[in-house]
Amino acid sequence: LEEATLYDRLTEEGLSRLVNKFYDLVHQHVVLKEIFPPDLTETREKQFAFLSGFFGGPSLYMEKYGHPRLRMRHLKFPIGETEARAWLECMRQALRDTVPDQKLREDIFAALARTAVHMINTGT
Ligand code: HEM
Repeated sequence: LEEATLYDRLTEEGLSRLVNKFYDLVHQHVVLKEIFPPDLTETREKQFAFLSGFFGGPSLYMEKYGHPRLRMRHLKFPIGETEARAWLECMRQALRDTVPDQKLREDIFAALARTAVHMINTGT
C-alpha cells in the first residue's frame, strides 16, 4: 500500500489556498516585504509549481523552469535566522488559516522548516 503524499492530503485546491495566503502575509510582513518584489504574482505562480512537486504531486516547476537549485537562487537575498524565522512564521499562520487538519499542518510545516534552514546564507 502506497502512502498518501503531502500533495494527496493537501489537494491542488488546498495548495493554491495555502500559497496565496502565505504571500498575502509575506507582502505585509515588516522584515520580508523588504526582500520580496512588490508584485508577487510570478512568485506565487512559481511557488505553487515548486511546492506541487516538493509535496509529491506533479513536478510543475521542473517541467517549466528546470532544476530549481533553490539555495543558489536565494543567494542574492540576505537570509539570516531572522528572515528564515519570519518566512516560517508566515507559513505557520497560512497553514493555520487554510488547512483544517492539524496533523497535515504539522507534517507540511516540518518539511518546510527543514528546507528553510538550508536557505540561510548570512550570519546576521
Ligand atoms: C523565491 C525568500 C525560503 C522556495 C524567493 C525570493 C525570495 C525568497 C526573496 C524571490 C522572489 C521573486 O523574486 O519572485 C525566501 C526567504 C526564505 C525562503 C527569506 C526563508 C528561509 C524558501 C523555502 C522554499 C522556497 C523554504 C521552498 C520550500 C522558493 C521558490 C522561489 C523562491 C520556489 C522561486 C524561485 C524562482 O524564481 O524560480 N524566496 N525564501 N523559499 N523561493 Fe524562497
